[in-house]
Amino acid sequence: MKPPKIAVFGAGFVGATTAHRLVERELGDVVMIDVVEGMPQGKALDMLESAPLEEFDARITGSNDPAACEGADLVVITSGIARKPGMSRDDLLLKNAEIVGGVAENVRRFAPDAVVIVVSNPLDVMTYLVGARTNFQRHRVIGMAGVLDSARFRYFIAEALGVSVRCVEAMVLGGHGDDMVPLPRYSTVSGITIDALLPKEKIDQLIARTRTGGIEIVNLLKTGSAFYAPSSSVVVMAASILRNERRVLPCAAWCMGQYGIREMFVGVPCVLGKNGVEKIVEMQLTAGELAQLKASADHVRENVQRLKL
Ligand code: 2OP
Repeated sequence: MKPPKIAVFGAGFVGATTAHRLVERELGDVVMIDVVEGMPQGKALDMLESAPLEEFDARITGSNDPAACEGADLVVITSGIARKPGMSRDDLLLKNAEIVGGVAENVRRFAPDAVVIVVSNPLDVMTYLVGARTNFQRHRVIGMAGVLDSARFRYFIAEALGVSVRCVEAMVLGGHGDDMVPLPRYSTVSGITIDALLPKEKIDQLIARTRTGGIEIVNLLKTGSAFYAPSSSVVVMAASILRNERRVLPCAAWCMGQYGIREMFVGVPCVLGKNGVEKIVEMQLTAGELAQLKASADHVRENVQRLKL
């Protein structure tokens, strides 16, 4: 059987680490596409030379030509610039809209049947832009953020309790910004909600750290943003789509009335399968949680209005 074709736009830290994890897990044959001449080709060759040692047979190539995404089953868009200290994700909007808008047009042209995972920031706004520019059915366009934000929350919970990360589940909804909505009521350690295990002040601290998880890394790295956990997050989503695993994961998905959000991409729990978002899961939220989610969605909507569509 022919392996799925995965095109990763952007061969910087996020794109290349994603591509690396994808081939090591043999999720498909990968092409990395970047404007910098020789760079995606060099990284791809280096990864291939690791294949005998890491024991993977998946293929990876690099290209400077967007047409190399032709016929892709899955496209991952990481193109654009990353934050530096002192910047919010929203500060990237106009520059990245230019870059991501151009990529989306190429995806529409060369990979019209693909499911697309958007990673570039500001995440929810770039996902909206890709939806508009590709004009794909909206269930085939998905933003990666909730998986990353909830992985950070899960790690912080495990660290605070001194337990394995394996038994911690968490849910973070909303836009990928400081007003994201971590949900302690739906965060558990082997089925036990964290409210029963940690004092409220500690949970509040973990929530605050999750909300600023991205900038904490930017401030340490100084020249760019996180890439290990973001690429792991993309790969979990990619596996669920390519293998039709139907995992329930928080993703920026096109809401059509769910949670009172209409025609906007915002982080909500989704069943991810071969068609992309197979279903948005509607959890019961308190009035307070819903109000936070609405405020976060309103923030995304305001930024979408800054786009030239
Ligand atoms: C992050 O949260 C880069 O937005 C990404 O680290």
